[in-house]
Amino acid sequence: MPVETIKWDKERIKLIDQTLLPNKFKHIYCDTIESIGEAIKNLRVRGAPAIGIAGALGVVLGMQDSKAKDYARFKKQLEHVISYLSSSRPTAVNLFWALDRMRVCCEKHRNLSIKTIKSELLNEAQKIIDEDKNICRDIGKNGAKLIKDGDVILTHCNAGGLATADYGTALGVIFYANEQGKKIRVYADETRPLLQGARLTTWELMHAGIDVTLICDNMAGSLMKQGKISCVIVGADRIASNGDTANKIGTYSLAVLAKAHNIPFYVAAPISTFDMKIKSGKQIPIEQRAHEEVTNLYGKRIAPKNVNVYNPAFDVTPARLISAIITECGIIEEPNEKKISNF
Ligand code: MRU
Repeated sequence: MPVETIKWDKERIKLIDQTLLPNKFKHIYCDTIESIGEAIKNLRVRGAPAIGIAGALGVVLGMQDSKAKDYARFKKQLEHVISYLSSSRPTAVNLFWALDRMRVCCEKHRNLSIKTIKSELLNEAQKIIDEDKNICRDIGKNGAKLIKDGDVILTHCNAGGLATADYGTALGVIFYANEQGKKIRVYADETRPLLQGARLTTWELMHAGIDVTLICDNMAGSLMKQGKISCVIVGADRIASNGDTANKIGTYSLAVLAKAHNIPFYVAAPISTFDMKIKSGKQIPIEQRAHEEVTNLYGKRIAPKNVNVYNPAFDVTPARLISAIITECGIIEEPNEKKISNF
């Protein structure tokens, strides 16, 4: 059974606290806009599509108690909530895409009562969740065409059910191929500094009964050299109109390694991850995170005090290193600006 990452539950947001996995499977409830903002910032909910869903539900949460008497005041409050949620994490475009959908939904129903607009906002957020479930299965179905029986797949970070409503993008491809009866094996990068691969990807794959082996990030090249990897599949946080792709830090190194070893490098992502407003990856804002994520491991300091630290959460893989982008609408091979705009 796929995990349900995040949902609306009796006037609150219910989500799996991913910072506790795999040791503890625990749901938390967010009943204030600040608590969902905190959950996004601290990666209790994470992964581009799941962040988008959290943003949409955050708007519902932030507006449900509005006492606004007219549309103008309601809209002003909504913009305030959107602006607060927009400041949580900058890289995954799905957040801004989802917040924009909520804004458009509000504007579309401007002539209805405030009570009706509130219920339309909840319907819209629920639609985003339901669509995501279908989209991930379509990504899985399309991507599985690239997977052969016996393939050994390398993945990075977590682009699974936990990063979406319930099924995943990169892992969706793996789940789908597995459901088709293909015998596949997976290597999961641990994904320092926050270990999404070690903590979340292995957990999800093991639950699905898929053969997964955990490796440290610096082992991938050696495995490729030994001929042990058939292909790499990763998710994405933002894809520029030329195909340049931002994903978890370390993705770029994998793409370079894959190219050097002639191994296909696939990106799996919904259309909502494309940012057609930007020309190239250079314009993608890269989130910088706290130094403690690098200097500390599970509360214990592992580096000297006052050491200089650089901690970007994402990097950008140029389109020329990507063999194909797998979407719910089909596959874009060797992506470039022209192919993406005609897609
Ligand atoms: O910092 P995170 O854990 O939110 O980063 C997640 C990733 O980089 C994922 O690969 C990406 O969001 C795609 S999720 C389907």
